[in-house]
Amino acid sequence: MVTLLGGTGILGRLSAIALAKRGFSVRVVGRHASARPWPAWPQIHGVAADIRNPASLARALQGSHSVHVGLANGLMPANEDGFETQALKRVIEIGKHSNWSCLTFHSASWVNQTHAGQPLARGKWESEEALRWSGLPFVIIRSGLAMETLPRFVYQNRVRIMNRHAQTFRLTAGKDIAALISHIHTEGDILDKTLYACGPEALTLKSSLIRYCTGLQPLVKVKSLPRWLLAWSAGRRGPADWRDIVSFLNFLEKVGEAPNQPDGFTLMGLTPMNLHAWCKEKSQSSKDLSGLYRRDHSNLTSI
Ligand SMILES: NC(=O)c1ccc[n+]([C@@H]2O[C@H](COP(=O)([O-])OP(=O)(O)OC[C@H]3O[C@@H](n4cnc5c(N)ncnc54)[C@H](OP(=O)(O)O)[C@@H]3O)[C@@H](O)[C@H]2O)c1
Repeated sequence: MVTLLGGTGILGRLSAIALAKRGFSVRVVGRHASARPWPAWPQIHGVAADIRNPASLARALQGSHSVHVGLANGLMPANEDGFETQALKRVIEIGKHSNWSCLTFHSASWVNQTHAGQPLARGKWESEEALRWSGLPFVIIRSGLAMETLPRFVYQNRVRIMNRHAQTFRLTAGKDIAALISHIHTEGDILDKTLYACGPEALTLKSSLIRYCTGLQPLVKVKSLPRWLLAWSAGRRGPADWRDIVSFLNFLEKVGEAPNQPDGFTLMGLTPMNLHAWCKEKSQSSKDLSGLYRRDHSNLTSI
């Protein structure tokens, strides 16, 4: 059985399905996990647990053969208070007394030693280091920004983005990241590595959002604002996580993405899709795009 900490999140759910397709029995863990079987996926079941609680975490991991950790709080790494690193260190301690075949950790393509001190990279970097020195069989997956996060930039039929956002990013389809995770747990011999999982095209966030809106939300206008105006508007109006998005954009602009090697997709013989193909697939499969990033744990067949 593979246990997914963060299995109720958008990437966790896709990973659960990818693992189930490969014949694994899968346990998804999150505070909102429901014990009800997933529609269409009887081999996936949920265990509600708060990772901050060590006893609850230990219970959630009981009986696992391998484990994946992908904890987050929306666009921001879940580490404002060191939570993600603490949770991973506890997982590692439990792993030392277990016989897991693999412990995978979801990091990000903008995390590396150079930016280790930046507040939005520190937690991931410290977690990676804890895993590298743990003595457990591990794989760190540094994925690009998921295409599934694009709807979160849309608010009241507008996308607001800072102008002169010049860095390019390889947006990655969640399904491809999930496929990579499921391959790693299946193969079992790709171990003790840090692998990148990035989509095939390097695009600025603005051109990605224009492509996304053109393909899937044609009524949405993409508007560039000066950095100061974006920060000001984040303080006054916008959705609850708008400030997070603005800090995240500022951070990405500063650090950019690390080089894409070693590439997990190439290693596993996978071909990741580009944004155009992802939009096409979404337009055929879903009319309700607000649902792409929905935390609705009952409607799992829509992803
Ligand atoms: N999305 C991206 O673009 C992206 C890019 C690079 C890397 N990543 C990494 O990929 C991983 C998954 O990202 P995501 O976008 O799928 O995140 P997400 O949708 O926000 O999901 C976060 C997961 O963490 C769980 N979680 C948070 N706090 C918890 C707690 N106290 N106890 C138990 N579970 C908790 C949530 O479960 P409950 O809400 O049920 O508690 C949920 O399952 C993260 O590690 C993230 O940093 C994401």
